[in-house]
Amino acid sequence: MRGEKEEPVIRLADYGQMAVDIHSHLIPGIDDGVKTMDESIFLLRHLETLGFKKVITSPHVMADGYNNSRETILSGRDKVREAIKQNSINIDFDATGEYNIDDAMYERIERKELLPFGKNYVMVEMPFLAKPPIMGDIVYKLQIAGYKVILAHPERYSYFHENDFSTYESLKDRNILFQINIGSLSGIYGKAAKFTAERMIDENMVEFVGTDMHGTKHLELLDACLGLKYLDRILNYDKLLNKTLL
Ligand SMILES: [Fe+2]
Repeated sequence: MRGEKEEPVIRLADYGQMAVDIHSHLIPGIDDGVKTMDESIFLLRHLETLGFKKVITSPHVMADGYNNSRETILSGRDKVREAIKQNSINIDFDATGEYNIDDAMYERIERKELLPFGKNYVMVEMPFLAKPPIMGDIVYKLQIAGYKVILAHPERYSYFHENDFSTYESLKDRNILFQINIGSLSGIYGKAAKFTAERMIDENMVEFVGTDMHGTKHLELLDACLGLKYLDRILNYDKLLNKTLL
């Protein structure tokens, strides 16, 4: 009989349309992402199969915790590139950082320690518990230094979840670009993050999407998301900037 528990996944979306991922943690051992090169290669091979052409990975850079520098990121990137070559994976691999908005950002900007990508993009994140008071100041300093600021997963910050969406609109007024996580559309980060990501898509507020891949569980999630209407919509959005980075 048809209609029993296992329904086939209807694939609406195709990651080939996205082509470039800008958010992942695929350099082994330098943050809370992959632990080994084998794991990194396993994930990159699957990303290639899913249609990705390029991965710009983004290790955490934070004063308390994963205090990565240009050197740790670039030497890690080069090792992954070498492994990609040895394993004949057809994917272009580069690296940036996912920069936490903390006091160390002042020095990172001052010393030109950041690793921008594409058209001088710098991706920032914030703590999930409370908005850092220096956020506006750091964004301003980045912008006057010539960087285009991308906020990683804005839909996940619960202190921004308000009915009228005014906080998000004010971030847009400050020319902050938004990168939503694909997983948010599945509800894995909660109902509010899912609702917020969907509304951002409805209101054309999204410039980038990202996998935020840390390990194999994110791979299963990417597969499961292929049947989602909102994923199909955002990957077909003509102003989505991911593929401009090819
Ligand atoms: Fe991340």
